[in-house]
Amino acid sequence: MTTIATAMIIGASSQLSKELARQLATQKVKLLLFVQQPELLTEFAKTLPVSVEVLPLSIAEPAKLIEQITTAWQQENGAHLVIVNTGMNGYDATLPWQLEQDIIDVNVKGFAAICHCVFKLMTEQGYGQLAAINSIAGQRGGPSMAYHASKAFAANYFEGLSMHAQRLKLPITISDIQLGLLDKAALQQNQFLLAPLDKVAKQILIALQKGKRRVYVTKRWRFVAWLNRLLPEYIYNTRHWKPKKNQRK
Ligand SMILES: NC(=O)c1ccc[n+]([C@@H]2O[C@H](COP(=O)([O-])OP(=O)(O)OC[C@H]3O[C@@H](n4cnc5c(N)ncnc54)[C@H](OP(=O)(O)O)[C@@H]3O)[C@@H](O)[C@H]2O)c1
Repeated sequence: MTTIATAMIIGASSQLSKELARQLATQKVKLLLFVQQPELLTEFAKTLPVSVEVLPLSIAEPAKLIEQITTAWQQENGAHLVIVNTGMNGYDATLPWQLEQDIIDVNVKGFAAICHCVFKLMTEQGYGQLAAINSIAGQRGGPSMAYHASKAFAANYFEGLSMHAQRLKLPITISDIQLGLLDKAALQQNQFLLAPLDKVAKQILIALQKGKRRVYVTKRWRFVAWLNRLLPEYIYNTRHWKPKKNQRK
């Protein structure tokens, strides 16, 4: 199939990134998929009707990952769209430092290295769209402290990049995709919050086509996010009002 644009998906092994890849492929977009273990994605890549390259990503080593992205960028003569889908979450009530460090390494250090590198490449190219699959978890603190804080970092980092794009007067779009808590909704089988993956991916791609700066996916999470921001801490922090027997240690 003749392609009309090039997109990179960084952190491409998750179900959501695969669905994004599928939908982009049907829109004739050539794909460069960055994953930690490329061999795990080669079979999936063969199922797509466009040219797909699966490339390694060393997220824990910022210097190496910058080199990996830059090399691919130069070989492909740039890209129109880059979607950053890397992210790590975890919760352990004993609060081991290692978990915090791993989340910070992936969601803060790795994220900043990827986005800084891509933004610089887009400024040289003169255009582009950089999007991150972020989370409404960044709006408040939460039991997974580093995760919630890292998502706030991502949102602020993107706001800064957007300011730089305006300062440089370049058509570089910075899109912050505020995803709802899909895993939690799936776990609770909450039909109000749960949305099929193809619908999630479709809403993300429509928002990107519209050049949205920030969007809530699915749309109903905008209401949850608004409520989250509004609630005073003594209500937001459910430990204050849950019966003691239901509280986790
Ligand atoms: N799923 C949800 O409910 C949810 C809700 C809100 C926001 N989000 C956010 O949306 C983004 C995508 O989430 P997702 O559910 O599609 O996928 P995910 O399972 O959270 O992971 C996305 C990608 O991050 C990379 N990654 C994960 N752990 C890593 C680690 N320890 N070291 C290095 N790389 C790691 C993986 O890259 P490789 O492809 O290289 O393995 C993976 O494909 C994330 O930023 C996530 O925080 C997710």
